[in-house]
Amino acid sequence: ALAAQDNNYENTIKTIAHRGSSGHAPENTIAAYDLGFEQKADYIEIDVQMTKDDKLVSIHDTTVNRTTDGTGSVGDYTLEELRNLDAGSWYDESFAGEKIPTFEEILDRYRGKIGILIELKSPGLYPGVEQKVADALIERNMHKPNNNKIIVQSFNHDSVKRFHSILPSMPVGVLVGYGQAENGEITDEHLEGYAAYADYVNPNKSLLDHDTVDRIHQHGLKTWPYTIVDQEWVDRLMGYGVDGIITDYPELMDFR
Ligand code: G3P
Ligand code: CA
Repeated sequence: ALAAQDNNYENTIKTIAHRGSSGHAPENTIAAYDLGFEQKADYIEIDVQMTKDDKLVSIHDTTVNRTTDGTGSVGDYTLEELRNLDAGSWYDESFAGEKIPTFEEILDRYRGKIGILIELKSPGLYPGVEQKVADALIERNMHKPNNNKIIVQSFNHDSVKRFHSILPSMPVGVLVGYGQAENGEITDEHLEGYAAYADYVNPNKSLLDHDTVDRIHQHGLKTWPYTIVDQEWVDRLMGYGVDGIITDYPELMDFR
């Protein structure tokens, strides 16, 4: 991979293991997060939702259908019921018995070892989820300004603002899907709005070009695009000067 600006760039760009090392293990399981850690990613990305009994868990879809042996909505399950599901077999029998991790389990297992990029997934379905996430961080003293390896992000920007107002010292990011841009463009108006509370603009990779990355930086923001699965895109995005790569395959960044 070719660096955009300087020799140090290749050493400073961050690798974020998307849902863990999800190209090699079932997404959002301890197996996938552990692999991300072993592959020396800088962060694991986790999707956080809430159970019927208000416990935080990590799963991507709002139903358990695709990634477990159960059916139905995450929010209709108690934690105990969810923990009985198999979150590994759908991917490969060798991962049978993997469970849906709890948010607190993830914090306790990885704190100080690897950064955690926390996505509030469909927070509109889970009133109070921002406060719950904040409480779990505060309880562990993981909300301090000098702890720069915990970041909270969401496609729901109201939710990001809500979290930011609860814990203003913690870095937050706005996820920007294709449909959230204006004819495929992240405008300066967007960026001024994001810069009022956020530290990261993490867009669909197709929304970036050299000029957009420059404008993101001019607004004092960093950018970690998603989701990268091949070397071509790593090289292209590094040519633009992005600050991180959210990928299912952390080994794409092995030049670091
Ligand atoms: O972290 C960015 C990325 O995870 C957002 O998309 O659908 O994989 O959660 P999704
Ligand atoms: Ca995600």
